Amino acid sequence: MREQLENIKKLASDDIQSSRSDAELDAVRVKYLGKKGLLTGILRGMGQISPEERPVIGALANTVREELEKYIEEKSLFLREKELSEKLENEKLDVTLPAKKKNIGKLHPISLVENRMREIFIGMGFEVVEGPEVESAYNNFDALNAPADHPSRDYTDTFYISTDILLRTQTSPVQIRAMQKKKPPIRIISPGRVYRVDELDSTHSPVFHQLEGLVIDKNINMGDLKGTLALFARAMFGERTKTRFRPHNFPFTEPSAEVDVSCFVCGGKGCRFCKSEGWIEILGAGMVHPNVLSGCGIDPEVYTGFAFGVGLERVALLKYNIDDLRLLYENDIRFLEQF
Ligand code: PHE
Repeated sequence: MREQLENIKKLASDDIQSSRSDAELDAVRVKYLGKKGLLTGILRGMGQISPEERPVIGALANTVREELEKYIEEKSLFLREKELSEKLENEKLDVTLPAKKKNIGKLHPISLVENRMREIFIGMGFEVVEGPEVESAYNNFDALNAPADHPSRDYTDTFYISTDILLRTQTSPVQIRAMQKKKPPIRIISPGRVYRVDELDSTHSPVFHQLEGLVIDKNINMGDLKGTLALFARAMFGERTKTRFRPHNFPFTEPSAEVDVSCFVCGGKGCRFCKSEGWIEILGAGMVHPNVLSGCGIDPEVYTGFAFGVGLERVALLKYNIDDLRLLYENDIRFLEQF
């Protein structure tokens, strides 16, 4: 019996030794130490041995059981550690590997320009209001003091939907809407799309963007207009930017001006960018015509105001040195990615 026990111990040890997983180890435990296991079987046969030998064999059987249990425990621990270190080895991350490049969307140059302008004018206390792109001929022309025979009213210049409904040709009708709705003081900007009958080429598009500005209050004068636009130009194009007003004509402003900024490439000396002029035209402006004020129920003897309009495409082309307007509408990612 002693021999049998030694033999079982040997066999069990070999089985434990060759176990490769906890499951295999468990099977070994059942095979030898379980209720119907081999070692248990031997202990059941104890009845056949002499009373003197019984305690000796019993003690030996217990030692074998304890030794095997301990061995199984150790092997199990070893297997778990091995599994863990294999896992760590296989799932190792190389944190120094360069990350995969994500394509992140960018704002369109026109949006960038519009957002910057909003920021600048909001900083000066302006409020942003928007108007519809489908407008009445009254708001787009009549209320803006355009004479009945003004060339811009022609169907060769303006997209008409009916005789008195059209696609707005400028953001100026938003001035009219603002003045009809609200008593002065008024201080608004209005960005948006405008439409004109034009073929698409490097400098023209049948749809483009403007940003309108309007200020109405007591004692507003040309100096306020010049100061506001000078501040805007410096914020938009750089601290050293100068502004220049040239006389012009718009039906809805009197006096009217076209406004130039000093060339932000050469600083005004004259270069290829400004075509040796030193100046670049960027907007139209003027003092709101008394007819426009009274037409909106605002007394021109009490209130005065100024207005200006700037083309966003034009500013985007200048600011980012883009030489063809069409690039702004083609949505070629290689182009858009650069901003
Ligand atoms: N609406 C004018 C244009 O489209 C620009 C402008 C706006 C001029 C406001 C003066 C005042 O050309």
